[in-house]
Amino acid sequence: MKAADMFSLKGRVALVTGASSGLGTQFARALADNGAAVALVARRPERLKALKAEIEGKGGKAIAVEADVTDRAAMTRAFDAAEKAFGTVTILVNNAGIAHGGRAVEMAPEEWRNVLSTNLDAVFFWAQEAARRILAANKQGAIVNIASVLGLAVSKGAVAYAAAKAGVVQVTKALAVELAFKGVRVNAIAPGWFVTEMNEEYLMGEVGTAIKREIPMGRFGKPGDLDGALLLLTSDAGSYITGATIVVDGGQVIQIKG
Ligand SMILES: NC(=O)c1ccc[n+]([C@@H]2O[C@H](COP(=O)([O-])OP(=O)(O)OC[C@H]3O[C@@H](n4cnc5c(N)ncnc54)[C@H](OP(=O)(O)O)[C@@H]3O)[C@@H](O)[C@H]2O)c1
Repeated sequence: MKAADMFSLKGRVALVTGASSGLGTQFARALADNGAAVALVARRPERLKALKAEIEGKGGKAIAVEADVTDRAAMTRAFDAAEKAFGTVTILVNNAGIAHGGRAVEMAPEEWRNVLSTNLDAVFFWAQEAARRILAANKQGAIVNIASVLGLAVSKGAVAYAAAKAGVVQVTKALAVELAFKGVRVNAIAPGWFVTEMNEEYLMGEVGTAIKREIPMGRFGKPGDLDGALLLLTSDAGSYITGATIVVDGGQVIQIKG
């Protein structure tokens, strides 16, 4: 089979959480560019509307759905809206996430709960909802959860984020084994450092220069660097891949210094 056919998402329906910014915007573009109709989900509707217009301007299909991923009723509404516009969502990209800073001993319970609720609880519940609907429609599907290299290793000042992302890796495996026989594949992508709204202040200063020096490829990720992993996991090219976490980090996480 030709690569263009193998990676094609023509006729598929995708939903991307956190599509209003950073990696999520790029995921939505990559899915739409390869033929999927895309439901764009986040809390900032103006951003989603602009992305919808951009995708439609290139001949693609998209809808904008305002939703907070921690709100279960909003989640149901988002899947309903996508289904009404395009049919059953068979590709979910569970991308919405937040970061936090500060040492573990100083972390307030509310901050811990907020990070876990957005970065782990929502990932599970949105994946669960997608899987339920795919199974009910008797279709095949692909769920891609966005983890992080901080789900595989740790750095100082990110305890809740690292715990949530490690949870995402395990949720991915647990769902994969339960859903494999039913035709729903569940995988994760663990990105290294990409400059986005989440971290630009941190990465554009001295700390960023020091971090970059530790990355074997000598640079942060750039838009498009995750497209290959995303398309592999969502298309027929990845038809026998499930439970995997693909690390895309320029070699950062495998390296022991010394
Ligand atoms: N950038 C990196 O270096 C990096 C590395 C590893 C993993 N990641 C992961 O990649 C994902 C995307 O991050 P990013 O770097 O692209 O950051 P970003 O630019 O800050 O984007 C985060 C996205 O998540 C959405 N979001 C946050 N809380 C939400 C909520 N409660 N409900 C709905 N949407 C919510 C935001 O939309 P609204 O504010 O409009 O709701 C925004 O679209 C995250 O899961 C992050 O942990 C990023």
